[in-house]
Amino acid sequence: MDSMDYKRINMHELLLCLANAADLVNPRLTAHHQKVAYLAYRIGGQMNLTREEQKKLLLAGLLHDVGALSYNDRIELIDNEPPTAQSHAEKGAGLLHGFPPLQEVAEIIRFHHIPWKNGEGQHFRGNQVSHMSHILHLADRVTVLVDPQREVIGQIHEIRNSIQSRVNTVFSPDLVDAFLALSNYEYIWLDLVYKPLHCILPVLTTLDTMELNWDEVILLAQLFSKIIDFRSPFTANHSAGVAKTAEKLAELAGFSESECKMMLIAGYLHDLGKLAIRNELLEKPSGLDSNERNEIKSHTFYTYRLLQSVKEFETINEWASFHHERMDGSGYPFRLNGKCLSLGSRIMAVADVFTAISENRPYRKSMSVDDVKKVLKSMEKRQALCPYALSILMENYDTVDRVRIDAQEKASIEYNYFSVNSE
Ligand SMILES: [Fe+2]
Ligand SMILES: [Fe+2]
Ligand SMILES: [Fe+2]
Repeated sequence: MDSMDYKRINMHELLLCLANAADLVNPRLTAHHQKVAYLAYRIGGQMNLTREEQKKLLLAGLLHDVGALSYNDRIELIDNEPPTAQSHAEKGAGLLHGFPPLQEVAEIIRFHHIPWKNGEGQHFRGNQVSHMSHILHLADRVTVLVDPQREVIGQIHEIRNSIQSRVNTVFSPDLVDAFLALSNYEYIWLDLVYKPLHCILPVLTTLDTMELNWDEVILLAQLFSKIIDFRSPFTANHSAGVAKTAEKLAELAGFSESECKMMLIAGYLHDLGKLAIRNELLEKPSGLDSNERNEIKSHTFYTYRLLQSVKEFETINEWASFHHERMDGSGYPFRLNGKCLSLGSRIMAVADVFTAISENRPYRKSMSVDDVKKVLKSMEKRQALCPYALSILMENYDTVDRVRIDAQEKASIEYNYFSVNSE
């Protein structure tokens, strides 16, 4: 046991960080998750929902589109609701279901695009659709109607008309009434377009939150690694491999039990900033031009800035975000060198390179063990990777490789299940 065991992570803080990460997928949808969360929470208040229900609505809003993983999905969902909208709602719910504290929230998300259809929308394929899903739906549709380029109060009238024209067909009458009443308050609209972080934070801090221990954070981080990786078959099991490899190396290096857990979390989140990178770049095997390379390089910067907002994550952030820094200072984006990189960060760099060159990719076969070792050695020689961290891998190569292969196979099975079952 060490002092790290007593750290408790604020769940709201972590979810907000993850919602911000999800919003990077599409810059056109600035703070979409936060805005929908805020509005759903307010409409819930207007409809006299309990505090608990309002809280669930807020969390559902923060995460509702995490199933829209690809950039194209998100673009399509901005202006209209394509018939395929149910697919991302199912995907999102399926992912979140894996984290017990969010199971009810997952069910709200599952039905956030079901139209009211004169009451038929109270059920969908034999399931009851909660009024909270309908509230989330309305909050989402209102949010996309707000044009960020124009002054907001002048838009209230058209937005009210647009929502009113869909009463009974898309939204229930009592919900539309509640929205119309709420829409009289200018501050609601001003909040909605105010600097992103400011609209949701005051609400969040008034709500009780759950404190998570490391094991619960692991579950949530693993869930997020799927949101990061499942955007593309090219990355589908990468974070799982890096996380388990880094954890094993940390254990072999004598890290404490809770430090090993932190390493696992850092591994799951190391590519969080990849949510800001377009799918087509993730899927381009070679021939990237310099602009595209720069774009990809920015991902660890985003990982760092996003994780910075979570208290008690300082060490995890260092381990996660410095995985492209190199011992000789030739890495990016902070240009750190061996003098500033902690052992945890060096282990992560080894775990990342090792996993990347060992794993199967759709466009190439995995390298042979001998070739992997050759590449790693050559990187050590040019002082890119830490000789000590690498020696731990080399001396336990088969054990670590087994751990990586098992983790990636498991993640692939989950990915296949996920992509088949949510169409
Ligand atoms: Fe959606
Ligand atoms: Fe949405
Ligand atoms: Fe990376």
